[in-house]
Amino acid sequence: MFVKLVYSVTCSVCLFVLVQAGNIGYKCVTPNGEVATCTSYFQCDVIRNAVAQRVEGIQEFYKKSLCGREGNLPLVCCGSVAKETQIEPPPSCTTPNGEPAGCISLSLCAIMSDAMQTLNNDDAKQFIKDSECGYNNETQEVLVCCGSEAYPLRTNLLPNRSVCGNQTGEIRIHGGTETKIWEFPWMALLRYKYNDSNEDAGYNCGGTVINNRYILTAAHCVHPHQPIYPYEIRLGEWKISSPEDCEEGKALNCADPVIDLQIEEKIVHPQYYARRGNNDIALLRLNRNIKFSNYIQPVCLPVREASDSSVGSTMTVVGWGIIENDTTSDVKLKLEVPIVSRAYCSNKLRDIGSIDSTRICAGGEAKKGICGGDSGGPLLRSSNENSNNSKLVKWFQEGIVSKGPGCGIRGYPAVYIRVAHYIDWIIENLKEF
Ligand SMILES: *[C@@H]1O[C@H](CO)[C@@H](O)[C@H](O)[C@H]1NC(C)=O
Ligand SMILES: *[C@@H]1O[C@H](CO)[C@@H](O)[C@H](O)[C@H]1NC(C)=O
Ligand SMILES: *[C@@H]1O[C@H](CO)[C@@H](O)[C@H](O)[C@H]1NC(C)=O
Ligand SMILES: *[C@@H]1O[C@H](CO)[C@@H](O)[C@H](O)[C@H]1NC(C)=O
Ligand SMILES: *[C@@H]1O[C@H](CO)[C@@H](O)[C@H](O)[C@H]1NC(C)=O
Ligand SMILES: *[C@@H]1O[C@H](CO)[C@@H](O)[C@H](O)[C@H]1NC(C)=O
Repeated sequence: MFVKLVYSVTCSVCLFVLVQAGNIGYKCVTPNGEVATCTSYFQCDVIRNAVAQRVEGIQEFYKKSLCGREGNLPLVCCGSVAKETQIEPPPSCTTPNGEPAGCISLSLCAIMSDAMQTLNNDDAKQFIKDSECGYNNETQEVLVCCGSEAYPLRTNLLPNRSVCGNQTGEIRIHGGTETKIWEFPWMALLRYKYNDSNEDAGYNCGGTVINNRYILTAAHCVHPHQPIYPYEIRLGEWKISSPEDCEEGKALNCADPVIDLQIEEKIVHPQYYARRGNNDIALLRLNRNIKFSNYIQPVCLPVREASDSSVGSTMTVVGWGIIENDTTSDVKLKLEVPIVSRAYCSNKLRDIGSIDSTRICAGGEAKKGICGGDSGGPLLRSSNENSNNSKLVKWFQEGIVSKGPGCGIRGYPAVYIRVAHYIDWIIENLKEF
């Protein structure tokens, strides 16, 4: 299936790709509710062994575990057991950053074990200490409240993790590119006017709610190439063309009305360089505070310059598919994209210049399908790799949609601004509400 999408004022990120069934390596949920990875059946020893041993009920369990195909090979959601059972989540706790999490052995908490080895930093040490939530007498191991971070929040101007990155409803991993009305409630739409006539020029970029007062977006959305300028921010939107957004088939399950806010201040990164898209990041301060609801929530931002997103992992891009004069896709869309190496990206996208640690490159893998998200919109990581409990998923914004190779070029990755690199700049530029 071809999915046609979106992009910026400049159409700087615009890709068309085949979206194929079968999502090897993507996150999935087992029949037991365990978060796991969609894996080739032949590499999932747990299920394969149970099939070989004809464990009772395994046929049924196998069918429920199917999560796609890669060519002729079946893919299964490969968890820790191959029978229907109740997997006990670890005791719940709250991290020092306010994130709901599970209390587990320090050695099982990868993020903290890694931090102990790599971050020789007093803040990180203190954070681990503050995360202690018990002691296992048998293994003589310290238990820690293991969320998705090993470093404290450094500002009270960004929401703590009890507040940000929340979306009501269950986590959705597969299924189409259309979002549900309650998904990704931090999405914002930027509305424009023509400079000369002052007439409305429609929605041309995305952005994200990061706290009560600020929207994070791309610099090229604030200083577009065309003679248009952003003047209004829409929040709580799902389907642009419909005045009221309701979940399919459930007439009463409707979102709250959208909210439009005006822009009080535009803060563009002082070293933004339009031609190559360097430092393509901006903040918009709104004219009043945002009231959060089920349909308007802040996203979590990474709190420090962390290690790089690993190549091969997947993240989610969200946007509206706005194409000038094309209303085919005015519903909020999402897409999982693989992170690709900077070397590959620099090679493919020569005119952008070398891709350094200020940017992330994702998508464009043959048949693995990127198609997008608006410029200024987010590249999101879900925190569920650190939790077996899908209810605890938090969403972190790792990237801002910045640049691509131009419209309609298949198989090319897109470039995102790496938020972790700019977190100091963001924090420095936030003012009290
Ligand atoms: C997180 O923020 C909320 C709302 O501001 C506050 O009520 C809560 O105490 C904070 N939690 C932590 C752990 O700081
Ligand atoms: C662990 O050992 C301590 C001291 O020996 C004891 O007080 C505590 O009850 C034990 N905890 C458990 C869970 O067995
Ligand atoms: C975030 O989600 C948790 C768990 O569902 C809920 O208790 C909490 O109230 C939510 N926070 C906000 C700000 O909606
Ligand atoms: C359009 O107007 C905005 C806001 O007044 C201004 O910042 C921008 O430079 C103008 N763009 C052009 C191309 O004139
Ligand atoms: C859409 O197309 C019409 C006619 O081709 C043009 O006048 C109008 O400016 C376009 N709208 C936008 C938002 O570009
Ligand atoms: C998730 O479950 C697996 C298998 O039951 C276990 O080994 C792992 O430690 C758990 N992870 C967390 C964070 O609880």
